Amino acid sequence: MNTLNRRQWLQRGSLASLIAITGGAPKLAKATTFQPRPILPDQPVRLSANENPYGPSPKVREAMIKHFDQACRYPRTYLKQLVTKLAEKEGVTTDHIVVTGGSTEGLKITGMIYGQGGKEIIAADPTFQALMRYAEQFGGHVHRVPLNDRLEHDLKAMENRITSQTGLIFLCNPNNPTGTLLPAEQVKDFCESAAKKTVVFSDEAYYDFIDESDYPSMVELVKKDANVIVSRTFSKVYGLAGIRIGYLIARPDIADRLKEKVVAFTNTPALFAATAALDDPDFYRFSLEKNTAAKNQIYQTLDDLNLEYIPSQTNFIFFKTGQHIHDFSQKMLQEGIAVGRPFPPYYNWCRISTGSLQEVGAFNDALKRVMG
Ligand SMILES: Cc1ncc(COP(=O)(O)O)c(C=O)c1O
Repeated sequence: MNTLNRRQWLQRGSLASLIAITGGAPKLAKATTFQPRPILPDQPVRLSANENPYGPSPKVREAMIKHFDQACRYPRTYLKQLVTKLAEKEGVTTDHIVVTGGSTEGLKITGMIYGQGGKEIIAADPTFQALMRYAEQFGGHVHRVPLNDRLEHDLKAMENRITSQTGLIFLCNPNNPTGTLLPAEQVKDFCESAAKKTVVFSDEAYYDFIDESDYPSMVELVKKDANVIVSRTFSKVYGLAGIRIGYLIARPDIADRLKEKVVAFTNTPALFAATAALDDPDFYRFSLEKNTAAKNQIYQTLDDLNLEYIPSQTNFIFFKTGQHIHDFSQKMLQEGIAVGRPFPPYYNWCRISTGSLQEVGAFNDALKRVMG
C-alpha cells in the first residue's frame, strides 16, 4: 500500500471537498471559517493544555448527532470504518492500527508493557510524561536524559543509555513542552539504529503542526517492520480533546500485544467523530492557519517584551519569564489566564498554548501587564 504524505493527504482531501462543493470540475472554494468556543465568563482563559478551541468542527458535530442513537452499541461494531481510513491515511494495513481512548491510553499501555518487571525506559527530560509515569507504577525504571543547550533531545546521550535492560526509548517529536523538532535525517538514523537494540516509541501528537514540508513520520520505519511504535491523536489539530480518541501504529505482532492491554478503549460517538474529522480538510487547514496566526501574535509580544522563546513546531510556545513559574502563573491567573504547569528544571520558563485569536489577545495584554 502506498503512503500518503501530509501534503498528499491534504491535497486529496481538499480535492474531494472541492468536487463535493462544485459538483465536478474543481474551482476555487471559498475559504471556510469556524467559530472558536467562547471565552466563558468567570473562568480563566485556558491556555494551559494545548487544546484547539475551534473544534469540534460542524461536520464532526453533525456526524455525532446523526449517529447518536448508535451509542447503545459497543464501539467495536463501528471500529472497522475508522481503522480502514486510518490504515489508508498512514499507508499501513488495518492490522497495524490500535485505536485507544485518546493517545494517552496508548502511551500508558505501552509504558506498562515495556516497563514492567524492572525494565528500563529512556526518555528526554522534560517531555510528555504519561508513558513513563505508568511504566514506573508497574515497576519500570526511567532514565531521564536532560535536553541539550538548545532544549532539544540529546539523541547521542539517549542512545548511550541503552543496555540489555532497556525496554523502550521514548521520543516526543515535536517535544512537549519545548515545541522543538529533531532534524529529519538525525531522527530517522537514530530510530533506525536504536530500534535494532530496543523498542522506539515516537509520540507524534503534534505532527500535523510541523511546518517543514515532507517531514518524515516514524511510520516509515513501522512499514519496514522495525521495532517502532507511533502514537497520534485527534485531540490537537482536529480539536477533539474531550472526545478521547487516538491511535497507535505498529507492526502487527506488536499491535496485537498492545491491543490486549487496552482498558478504556474509545466510544461509539468518538469513532463517528474521528471518521468525520478525517473527511474535513477545510477544518484541518483552518486549524493550522489559525495556529500559525496565533503563534505569530505571541512571538510578536514576546519580541516586544524582549523575552527569550523557542520557535515552536506545535500549538504551544515555551518562553523564558525570568521568574519562578509558580509566581508567574499566579500573576497570570489574577489576570484571567491559565498557563502551563511547571516543567522542572526550567522553573523560569512557561508553556503557553495558542488558543483562539481572542484568547491570544487576552494573553498578550495580560503578559504585558505582568511583565510591567
Ligand atoms: C506529546 C503529547 N502526547 C500525547 C498527549 C495526549 O493527548 P491525548 O490523550 O488527548 O491524545 C499530549 C497531550 O497534551 C501530548 O502533549
